[in-house]
Amino acid sequence: MRFTDEKLIEVEAIINRYPDGKHKSALLPILHLAQEEFGGWLDVPVMDYVAHILKIEPIEVYEVASFYSMYNLKPVGKYMFEVCQTGPCMINGSDDIIAYIKEKLNINVGETTADGMFTLKTVECLGACGYAPLMQLGKHYKEHLTKEKVDTIIEACRAKAN
Ligand code: FES
Repeated sequence: MRFTDEKLIEVEAIINRYPDGKHKSALLPILHLAQEEFGGWLDVPVMDYVAHILKIEPIEVYEVASFYSMYNLKPVGKYMFEVCQTGPCMINGSDDIIAYIKEKLNINVGETTADGMFTLKTVECLGACGYAPLMQLGKHYKEHLTKEKVDTIIEACRAKAN
């Protein structure tokens, strides 16, 4: 397993953003790239490969990858609902939204639907508390969630996947 030549150029460009000797700072963006490139999650061989590229110890990669919720350490669905559950979102009903998604998709937090379509994750503050309750879906935020909005989002994802 390796990045394509095109992606390796991107990796190189990311590393070159940082001063000599500080190449480890490229770890977060390279992990994002690796996750995108190798199936949406970071398997151990993928993390080892990233460690090899950055000439750091694999444990340094594992520590970072397991710390941030934006990295997945097991396979995830095509669409991942990352619902914020921190205070302001909770006060605005995130618990109800999470319960509704669980019921609607018949999964628990951390699980993926049997058809591999959806994963439900809870995360800490997404830095957009004014739009609570919200979730991250790919590169977008879905704000002021209601059960009706959740229905619409799920339908839109299904329609897009077909
Ligand atoms: Fe949910 Fe800040 S508490 S975005």
